[in-house]
Amino acid sequence: MVSSQGNNHYVICEDLFKIYKIADLEVVALRGLDLKVKLGELMAIVGASGSGKTTLLNILGGLDIPSAGKVTVGERNLLKISSRDLVRYRRQDVGFVWQQAGRNLIPYLSAYQNVALPLTLLGWSPRKQRRRVEEMLEAVGLTHRRRYRPDRLSGGEQQRVAIAVALAHSPPLLLADEPTGELDSQTARAILDVFRSLNEAYGVTIIIVTHDIRIEEEVDRIVTIRDGRTSLETIRTPQFRRPGTGPEGTLQVQPTNPIRGSNSPPGILEALRLRLTFLSPDGMICCTRTAIRLAGDSFTQIKPLTIQHRRRKRHSRA
Ligand SMILES: Nc1ncnc2c1ncn2[C@@H]1O[C@H](COP(=O)(O)OP(=O)(O)OP(=O)(O)O)[C@@H](O)[C@H]1O
Ligand SMILES: [Mg+2]
Repeated sequence: MVSSQGNNHYVICEDLFKIYKIADLEVVALRGLDLKVKLGELMAIVGASGSGKTTLLNILGGLDIPSAGKVTVGERNLLKISSRDLVRYRRQDVGFVWQQAGRNLIPYLSAYQNVALPLTLLGWSPRKQRRRVEEMLEAVGLTHRRRYRPDRLSGGEQQRVAIAVALAHSPPLLLADEPTGELDSQTARAILDVFRSLNEAYGVTIIIVTHDIRIEEEVDRIVTIRDGRTSLETIRTPQFRRPGTGPEGTLQVQPTNPIRGSNSPPGILEALRLRLTFLSPDGMICCTRTAIRLAGDSFTQIKPLTIQHRRRKRHSRA
């Protein structure tokens, strides 16, 4: 289902607020957050603890209701949706992967049974279920573990089963909250590879919330949330080619909201300890960066420019 907004944005959040009330205390978890995600995009949301990442994911997944603003997913306006439609939306249109495997899988069911369960609940025929479960277990590379219960699977294997469960009913949107948080770096990389290959194979829109800086290598775009608002976008634009570099993922950085009043020196984006290629207002700059400085709507680099040519064979989607 494509957005009704007349473009290919599948998820649209505008001026989104979420205020939690605990007795007399109000906690503003989201304060005017804007976000657009295209259909079929694989993107990540990063941000400090408490910045509102899980709150946003819960809203997008229909598990929580925003206090104000606009949020649409496909044709659905999640602020105005009826409770019946919300249940249908949660069951059919969204898949979730949580950080804790215990929240994703039922411990006394095998990998196969876990993947089959949502399909049984949706009333799929046994034959159709069988085909789909086998397809999904193969897609995450776990056909040989189909009879294992979660306690006999490694953490990475459990997360792969969780991804298969989340995508079994072919939802157009997959939400993953810290899916690699409990994994070692090698296993985490393997899980991120699974997300990418499923995104490419099925065209599912994937939003991954993470603290994991390695995500840079795996996604099309990174959006940073700070204090309940999007503060920065990092975009990989695979269509760009530096002469002689071949099909490389080039990164473009754009401030979405100027950061004001932060504790750090004005405009220093400490989150960007990544290797990026920056797009300046007057043209493309290729560099290895540790920090950049915002200047109005543009930015300048702080450290000397280092020209680099990087090939990324795996990400040649252009
Ligand atoms: N149910 C709730 N009731 C009250 N306050 C809440 C609730 N859920 C979240 N908050 C508050 O909202 C803010 C954002 O929380 P959220 O869980 O979205 O952060 P996060 O970015 O996911 O953090 P982390 O990286 O630690 O998971 C925090 O200040 C948190 O204390
Ligand atoms: Mg969280």
